[in-house]
Amino acid sequence: MAYRVIQWATGTVAKEAVLGVLGRPDLELVGAWTHSADKDGRDLGDLYGLGELGVRVSADKEAVLATQADAVLFMVGRNWVDTPEESFDDLLQILRSGKNVVNLWWPTLVYPRGLAGDYYERLERAAQEGGSTFCTIGMDPGYGTGALGLSALGLSREVRQVRLHQVMNNAFWEGPGITKFFGFGQLDTAGTPILQPGVTTSYHETTIHLLADALGVTVDEIVEENSVIYSDVAFDVASGHIPQGTICGLRYDVKGMVGGEPLIVVGHLERLREHDFADFDFQGDGYRAEVTGEPCIRLDMKISALPDFVGDPIAVASAMSAVNAVPRVCAAPAGVTSLLDLPPFPSKNTTIKS
Ligand SMILES: NC(=O)c1ccc[n+]([C@@H]2O[C@H](COP(=O)([O-])OP(=O)(O)OC[C@H]3O[C@@H](n4cnc5c(N)ncnc54)[C@H](OP(=O)(O)O)[C@@H]3O)[C@@H](O)[C@H]2O)c1
Repeated sequence: MAYRVIQWATGTVAKEAVLGVLGRPDLELVGAWTHSADKDGRDLGDLYGLGELGVRVSADKEAVLATQADAVLFMVGRNWVDTPEESFDDLLQILRSGKNVVNLWWPTLVYPRGLAGDYYERLERAAQEGGSTFCTIGMDPGYGTGALGLSALGLSREVRQVRLHQVMNNAFWEGPGITKFFGFGQLDTAGTPILQPGVTTSYHETTIHLLADALGVTVDEIVEENSVIYSDVAFDVASGHIPQGTICGLRYDVKGMVGGEPLIVVGHLERLREHDFADFDFQGDGYRAEVTGEPCIRLDMKISALPDFVGDPIAVASAMSAVNAVPRVCAAPAGVTSLLDLPPFPSKNTTIKS
């Protein structure tokens, strides 16, 4: 019998998730919630240009929650930056209704135990009340850093340091959002949101705590470090013009200090040209987990697309990290769970071309 799945929010990554659910024989799409009044009542497949699926999109939370389902794929937008409580309350309500949740929203929830405040306790209470399970996957925080790091550490006899990195070329992103967020094209970092004190820590501290708990150590302190590079020439990217002498790349590390040493480091390298940051020998987009110790281990995970693919392969990977986890999360005991607890969750959708 297939697991019955509700898609919660119908944005960009959700489309890839819908395609993912349709491709898995052990999952069945049975409902969809939308935040947008103009999508209310439409067929989910029609909305995405996939043809009619017979699944109505509804803006009525109660009605969607009344649908009999095993799991909710929770993929609302970035309102966690300013107003997390509204969507957090929705999460609690879904868990109390007895539905398991695989979440991509507010990526820091990848390890709620490591989050300041009472978020972990509230999620755990709601899950116990509903007999349901909560898990957040995604890429970073998520599979690209956390799961890759855990995988590398499985081979270690002695660990002196573990470093996890996301590497992205942002030249192809359209729209001003990403450019503004990373400060590309700016003369200095004064207005760069990601580089304001505490911001990179807020993104990555739970990944650091997840790894620390995996290693059985306590993090004494979290320290941020960052640097930017300035363009030697003017050039254009999909999101706009980068004048000469302005920021065209940045690198940051968030360090989990143990005994005065950076034992666990999570970082990003964000650039617009492949040749920038040449000292970091990683071409293309992806993730690196590197363990210094006995033995030394480096795992590189590069994500790209087949020639005939239209879209963003990172969005597909993000969506599928959640979709593929559904059966494992449904089978897990009630409560808050994480990458630390779940067995591997491979795809079940194969295409054999002879
Ligand atoms: N951890 C990771 O690596 C990772 C990777 C990718 C994405 N994500 C996360 O996944 C989520 C979805 O990403 P996306 O790129 O698909 O975002 P998106 O295209 O902006 O879509 C988000 C959807 O959320 C709904 N929404 C918008 N404002 C809302 C609000 N105030 N309250 C509730 N719902 C609202 C809308 O759904 P309707 O259109 O149905 O109204 C919107 O289409 C985001 O939270 C993102 O941060 C995480």
